Amino acid sequence: MSLPPVIAIDGPTASGKGTVASMVAKKLGFHYLDSGALYRLVALASEKQGIDVKNGPQLGLLVPKLLISFKNGQIFLDGEDVSDAIRAEEIGLRASALAVHPEVRAALVGLQRSFRQSPGLVADGRDMASIIFPGAILKVFLTATASARAERRYKQLIAKGISVKLENLLQDLHERDARDSSRGAAPLLVADGAKVLETSDLPIDQAVKAVLDWYQSEVV
Ligand code: DC
Repeated sequence: MSLPPVIAIDGPTASGKGTVASMVAKKLGFHYLDSGALYRLVALASEKQGIDVKNGPQLGLLVPKLLISFKNGQIFLDGEDVSDAIRAEEIGLRASALAVHPEVRAALVGLQRSFRQSPGLVADGRDMASIIFPGAILKVFLTATASARAERRYKQLIAKGISVKLENLLQDLHERDARDSSRGAAPLLVADGAKVLETSDLPIDQAVKAVLDWYQSEVV
């Protein structure tokens, strides 16, 4: 029996991949995996437990002990709704720092693959196409210029009433881009066979349409 199809959508931080991936999943009635949320959960849990972000082995051992659940778009850690807490900028930076450790990445592989369920999955992250789902039917690398991404993030945070400086966001973004792309374990890259979608000037609905059109052309 063949496995349910996977659409892998990778890209740098604030590229819009989360929004596009979840909308594509909704349109197709597929499951959705936000793999970045898992790294963010490890960041939050390890911070609470006082584990050093440089301690790969200890962070890797923490992963199987976490009680993670997803319900109606909300994320729970040990029964607590942490959907907002994991979105903090500082948790994103911590997630990027601990994602360099092979022990952490290996500990999250099984959990990520368990999301591949019928009728299909849209998975977003950095290594969905290269490592987690190399057999994905469609691989998309979604990107935008750093300034377009910083501006998007700025608008999202301001809309939530969080005050930030655009230049600080741009600096954080460069820092995360550099680390996510240069790490030895599963660096952010355009996987073999991936289609690149530049979204700096592309409205979300058109980005969603592009992915759906590519998918339709793969399944016929
Ligand atoms: O997509 P995001 O910004 O929520 O991800 C947070 C961090 O987690 C990101 O900076 C790097 C790491 N990450 C990763 O290494 N591999 C993934 N598949 C997803 C996220």
